[in-house]
This record gives sequence, C-alpha cells and structure tokens, in this order.
Amino acid sequence: MAGDFVLPQRPGAAAVAAAEGVDGDRLWARLMEMAAHGATEAGGVNRQALSDADIAARALLRSWGAELGLEASVDTIGNLFLRLPGKDDGAAPVLSGSHLDSQPTGGKFDGAYGVLAALEAVEAMQGAGIEPARPIEIVAWTNEEGSRFSPGMMGSTVFTGARELDTVLAARDGEGTTVGAALARVLDAEGDVPKRQLGGRPAAFVEAHIEQGPVLEAAGKSVGVVTGIEGKRVFRVTVIGKMGHAGTVPQGERQDAVIAAAAMVTAIGDAVAADGRGAKFTVGMFNVHPNAPSVIPAKVHFSVDMRHADAVKLSALGDGIVRLCGENGMGCEVDVNELSHDAPLDFCQPMRSLIGAGSGALAIPSMDVFSGAGHDARHLHYLCPTGMIFVPSRGGISHSEDEWTEPGHLADGARVLTAVLATLATA
Ligand code: GLV
Ligand code: MN
Ligand code: MN
Repeated sequence: MAGDFVLPQRPGAAAVAAAEGVDGDRLWARLMEMAAHGATEAGGVNRQALSDADIAARALLRSWGAELGLEASVDTIGNLFLRLPGKDDGAAPVLSGSHLDSQPTGGKFDGAYGVLAALEAVEAMQGAGIEPARPIEIVAWTNEEGSRFSPGMMGSTVFTGARELDTVLAARDGEGTTVGAALARVLDAEGDVPKRQLGGRPAAFVEAHIEQGPVLEAAGKSVGVVTGIEGKRVFRVTVIGKMGHAGTVPQGERQDAVIAAAAMVTAIGDAVAADGRGAKFTVGMFNVHPNAPSVIPAKVHFSVDMRHADAVKLSALGDGIVRLCGENGMGCEVDVNELSHDAPLDFCQPMRSLIGAGSGALAIPSMDVFSGAGHDARHLHYLCPTGMIFVPSRGGISHSEDEWTEPGHLADGARVLTAVLATLATA
C-alpha cells in the first residue's frame, strides 16, 4: 500500500444516509441491460476485451454517466473514466470500478457489478445531495480477464506503471490481432470522448465484486470485507514434436507433442498435489496442431495458471514448471514463457476497517474473506489505499454462465460501497 491520504475509520451520518438511498432495482435493471451485450444462449456473457460487444457496453456505460452529468474520458490503454467533480477538483480522486470484459463463458456480474455498483453509489450520493470534497471517478479497466489478450489486467497495470504500454499494445489474440489494433477501433468508435493522460495518483481505490467462491453464501453473510488476494503466476508452454502418420510411424520413434504435454501436465499436477491443499493449478487452454485424429500432433500450446496464498510456495511451484516441462519433453522442443507473476497481498487495514464499519453502520452482515480470484485492485494496492467489497456468489460459481448473485446482495454491496466512497470523498 502506498499513499498519504489518511483514511477515516468510520462513515459519517451523511454517507450512511446516502447509502440508504441505493436503488437495488435500478442497479439490477442496469446489470441486466449491460448483460445483453455479449449475451450467450445459456444466459451468460461473452464480452471479450476490445470487441464490438465491449464497445457497445462502454457506450451504454457512458450514456448512463451522461444522464448523471458525469464527465467521460479515456486514456491511452482504453481505461474509461466517468468523473463526478469535487469541490476541490484538483484534489486526488477517489476511484471505484472494475471491468466490463468477460470470460468466453462468463456471467452477468463478474466485473460489470463493480462498475455499475460505483455508478449506483454516485447516483445515490447525488440523490442525497452530497457534494464531494474531492472528485470521484468510476473506472472500467481494460482487459481484466486476459481471455482474448493475455495477460489480463492490462488497463490497471499500464495505469499503475507495472507494465509498459508498448509491450501491452503488441500482445496478440488467437487471430493475430494486436491489442494496439483492437484498441484503435475502440478509440475510433469513442472519437468524441476526451482523452486523458495515463496514470495518476488516486486518493484511494475501492472495487466491489462478486465473491466467485462459496464462503459468504455458506456463512450467510451479505458482504465480504476482502482481506487480500492470492498470488498468481501465468505461463504459456509450447511443445514442438514431429508430424507423422498415425498408422505408420512406430510408437517408439515418435515425437508426439500431446504425449509429452500430457506428461508435463501430470508432473505439474503431482507437484501441486504434493504441496497440499493451498496450491491451485489450471490448464484451461490446450491447443493441438494440426488437431487431426490420424496425424501425430506436431505442436501443443497450453496455459498454466498457478495460484497460492503463500509467496514462497508460489515461487517454488512456479519455478518448478520449467524443470518439469524440460524433464518430460520426450524428444520434443519445449519453451516455457512466463506471462505474469503477481505475489499474494493483504489490503491495508484502514480500508478494511472502513468497509467493515460501513457494513456495521448499515446493519449489513459482513465477514472477512480472502480472494482466490485476481482483480484490478491487486495493482492499485501498490499505488494508493485500496480495498474490495464482495457479495455472495450462488454455489460459489463464477467464470461460468451459471454465475448468479441475489439482487438483494448486490444492493447491499452497493450500499456499503456508497457509504465508503461518500466517506472517502468528503474526508
Ligand atoms: C480473474 O478473473 C482471475 O482469473 O482471477
Ligand atoms: Mn472480475
Ligand atoms: Mn473474471
């Protein structure tokens, strides 16, 4: 945590009154309208970063911002901001939001909730006649999911300086389109939106999000005060074998990229199992070339997502990937490329206390909860006092079209967010 803004430890009476004005029906209606952009047949959302659906979602968000008199702006990595001016408009802003992109089989709430809860909070504050001392900015960070373009959290990492703009712009999707080219289309479509400089030093950042895990539901709590985020390392492994006829090349004379890749995945899985319950490892992408039933696979490209709450264990498990892939190459060429390494973190105690106090003042049942999922707040944490507010996910399900959160819980999370933002912005 960095920053010199001293956080109030309790929400004031005006902030609590503003929070009571949150309109859960309005928030729900906006979430459903937003979910139409990229809607899937099974009731989920596929809104890839910088796609046409993303452009439409951003336009919808701007239209709602305009109705509230908020000033839109966009930076050079495409982060979209809606600003409510403060009485001291030169003061560092309080920032709140999340992302509008989704996984290919995403739900209606992952990301969109944090953006629209911030919008609801601003509207509730306006309704209560709160004039913030410092500006409040709602933000939709570019490409949080890292699904179309990897790695994720491009907007927040470029904003905070954790990654270089040029490196991120050069990343390509599966079709070979660069972030730079896709972003140019978005900025073109948003030609009338004022441009702003990259970065800055917010007074604070607060992100509301669905939990995406089972803890709050099991405990019967409406709100989670997020204590921290698990560490995560992301790799791409390329295995190059030798193409051949499935019926004629003797079994012992093959360089089969699938057999080698399968051995690598098994070896990494064994290492994770040996570590105990804390580690989580996912091979969510596994591409075979040429992907023809009677051709010995010449190439496999697969992803490894490795997570742990313990920094030392995460380092050791991640470092082991290069060795385990090399040892299981079976005559194939192997390349292991690490795309990102984010250490586990704990959010600052003053922000956690303020969120807990906000829940208490509103009589909303809350508890501390640790995040297994990654969020843009991870990167803001190193720039300014940062915190997160979770609401329950039914069955703990997310990154799935079955993702669901009860409207009442969404409204409760927005109430706590409103109390926290109003307190921070009037301090
Ligand atoms: C974010 O969506 C993550 O994969 O943790
Ligand atoms: Mn998310
Ligand atoms: Mn997600």
